[in-house]
Amino acid sequence: MKPAEDEIRRAAQLIRSGKLVAFPTETVYGLGANALDRNAVQRIYEAKGRPASSPLIVHVAEIAMAEALAAEWTAVAQQLAARFWPGPLTLVVPKHSSVPDIVTAGLSAVGLRVPAHPIALRLMQLAKVPVAAPSANRFMQLSPTTAEHVRAGLGDRVDMILDGGPAQVGIESTVVSLTGERPVVLRPGIIELEELEAATQTAWRDAESNIVTEAAAESPGLHPRHYAPRTPFYVLSIGSAPPEGRGCILALPENPSAYAARLYAALHEADKQGWDWIAVEEPPQGAAWTGIRDRLRRATTKL
Ligand code: TXA
Ligand code: MG
Repeated sequence: MKPAEDEIRRAAQLIRSGKLVAFPTETVYGLGANALDRNAVQRIYEAKGRPASSPLIVHVAEIAMAEALAAEWTAVAQQLAARFWPGPLTLVVPKHSSVPDIVTAGLSAVGLRVPAHPIALRLMQLAKVPVAAPSANRFMQLSPTTAEHVRAGLGDRVDMILDGGPAQVGIESTVVSLTGERPVVLRPGIIELEELEAATQTAWRDAESNIVTEAAAESPGLHPRHYAPRTPFYVLSIGSAPPEGRGCILALPENPSAYAARLYAALHEADKQGWDWIAVEEPPQGAAWTGIRDRLRRATTKL
């Protein structure tokens, strides 16, 4: 059920008065607060149980609003924003002094994104303030792709939940840092490196093989274990024996976009069913699977 304009208006008013609103984006649901209000942002960390060392992504309605929050807006930033926004891409750029330190966990750069979901966009427009929003889940747990996931995970820690139906992309945005000499992918997502390169015609740092290790230092929120169900979760390579006990091997689509859209919902469901373990079969190697492989790596139990 799509919330009516009135409901989005009420949500925008709550954001303006320092409250927390969970809202749909095309990637996953976000837990939003006024990014310019330190106390409101502090409440996000409390509601999630998130360490103060993990920076938050700031969501805005249009490129001009993002530019205003950056100390430096380069040609590459403009090219990427023009090509992929609104959409599942976060740009990490030097922050303007108006962005409170609590938003960036003390870092001098801020992550910015214009989400593609019409309800998210309308919320940003009506709130007229930038909205800091991590995924709307408790720290270390699975990201929510439905309003029901948010309700189950955060309950009354959130003042309002806007229900926009299931998220279409299903895994978190591609995070790109533009603070170094060359752009680099800190967190892979559904937008591939090749597409990013094509949009900028500049040399990128090739972090393909070491995204996790390299990015960990630059992006403190990227904990190696993250996005995980409670039940032990494994990736089964072909021919490997499944673990002992009663387990569930998830049946997921063969197409990478459809797979991403379904992955967290399938994990949320299986996690409630009391299995001894959950598993997926190892996905293909291709570039279209990079974001998915990254999430599986973080979510799985090491044997
Ligand atoms: O798709 C998404 O990105 C979702 C929706 C709600 O927009 N949000 C999301 O937020 O996944 P979160 O907080 O769960 O993950 C944000 C990650 C951080 O963990 C960190 O790795 C990176 O983005 N990040 C954010 N700000 C950063 C900064 N200033 N410098 C480096 N990395 C940053
Ligand atoms: Mg998250």
